[in-house]
Amino acid sequence: MSNIIVLLGPPGAGKGTQADKLAARLDIPKIATGDVLRAALRDGTPRGKEAKAYMDRGDLVPDSVIFGILRDVMGSPATSKGAILDGAVRTVPQAKELGIMLAELGKGVDSVLLLDISDDKLTERLSGRTVCEKCQTPYMGREPETKCEKCGSKLIRRKDDEPEAIRNRLKVYRAQTAPVIDWYGENGMKVHKVDADGPVDEVTRRAVEALEK
Ligand code: AP5
Repeated sequence: MSNIIVLLGPPGAGKGTQADKLAARLDIPKIATGDVLRAALRDGTPRGKEAKAYMDRGDLVPDSVIFGILRDVMGSPATSKGAILDGAVRTVPQAKELGIMLAELGKGVDSVLLLDISDDKLTERLSGRTVCEKCQTPYMGREPETKCEKCGSKLIRRKDDEPEAIRNRLKVYRAQTAPVIDWYGENGMKVHKVDADGPVDEVTRRAVEALEK
């Protein structure tokens, strides 16, 4: 029995934060395409080099790059029990391709969660965020160069958390990712809207409640 959860939401909604919590709770891995791409960038792989300019501007990387990542991870034994797909589906072609890949494996998407939050709140979160350069854990209210609590590496600011890139990411989300919400609805999947404003554990509680529905 597999448990595949698609996590949608604008930049800064808390997808990464909640995906970690849900992954631990449900004992399935988190697959965050943003993290995979940043790791590829850090390692200087061809995939990372191709993605860099798109990511720095806050644009989406081409669907073909994401199809490659999804094919690698969904076919791997690590996701045999399921996965939380954090930001891995951001265009309608990606949603369609994921469905095809899963059908070939005899699986399908089990739940779709949408983290819902105002633009003001997410801009405030992204402007105050630092992340671990190695394990990519996000923090609020911690300065760059201080140490990650989880792995001891240094915290940095993401290039795409600059004001102009944040504005572009929001524009891109509305134009290219919001239609995915309707697409799932039109294709027989209930999209569970979760209020993402509030303490982290409270948002997790709401997400778990939505998954149990
Ligand atoms: P990605 O890294 O996924 O960026 P994003 O979607 O813009 O999301 P963020 O990581 O900025 O935010 P989040 O929702 O995960 O929030 P977080 O938990 O960090 O992708 C980066 C780029 O990669 C994309 O722009 C694109 O170029 C490319 N990419 C990735 N996937 C792609 C795809 N499928 N197709 C094409 N391109 C793709 O939280 C934000 C902050 O708020 C943190 O500091 C956190 O500590 C804090 N916080 C979280 N929850 C709370 C709370 N409840 N209360 C207070 N603070 C909170």
